[in-house]
Amino acid sequence: MSALLQMDNAGIKRRIVIKDDWPGYSLDLFTYPEHYHDDIESIYIPHGVIMNRTERLAHYIMDDFRDDNIMVLCVLKGGYKFCADLVEFIKILGRNSNKYLETRVEFIRLKSYLNDQSTEDLHIIGCRDLSFLRGKSVLIVEAIVDTGKTMKALLKHVETFEPKMVKVAGLLVKRLANMAESLTDYVGFEIPNRFVVGYALDYNEYFRDLNHICVLSRTGKMKYKI
Ligand code: HPA
Ligand code: MG
Repeated sequence: MSALLQMDNAGIKRRIVIKDDWPGYSLDLFTYPEHYHDDIESIYIPHGVIMNRTERLAHYIMDDFRDDNIMVLCVLKGGYKFCADLVEFIKILGRNSNKYLETRVEFIRLKSYLNDQSTEDLHIIGCRDLSFLRGKSVLIVEAIVDTGKTMKALLKHVETFEPKMVKVAGLLVKRLANMAESLTDYVGFEIPNRFVVGYALDYNEYFRDLNHICVLSRTGKMKYKI
């Protein structure tokens, strides 16, 4: 698979592709909350790597949005950490380059997962009236895009409010046969189709307090199964 992403006016955006055989880092190489000791198998993406990649995405976003203020639409709950860190980097970059873009953050909540399985029904909970997006440049911020079903539904919903432009930032995009990568303008990491937790991504509401992105162990899967 090519390591290069598409071209646009910002130039070449390089893509980070995590291969199918990447086992993650051994747990003893990093620190993490003691209460998850038996529940995770490996550190898949360390927190520091997530942060630096997020800073890079902030550069791409600044280049594309130019002088437009950014209406950020954070997809809860999984997107809250990525969104907070991304917006912070956008502000720091703006400050350092005298190109201070105004950012307004709104939240939308979607739910479609039970245990580690995607369910058919998607619910938009909270903030259904997005009429303040009319004529604005919108950045949807989502932690993970896998089947793309959620994102497609959300994009359709957002478009009905006639924004000027809509871009999508996804920290993780899963590599699937019918990949949703074309939906995502700013991709942190392309990963294999496996279930990951941490950095606000949950397994039945657990593991959001883990800073790294990790792979669950069998014990963890059993312990927190509903
Ligand atoms: N982890 C947590 N939540 C998710 C995932 C995942 O891999 N995919 C979609 N929602
Ligand atoms: Mg979830």
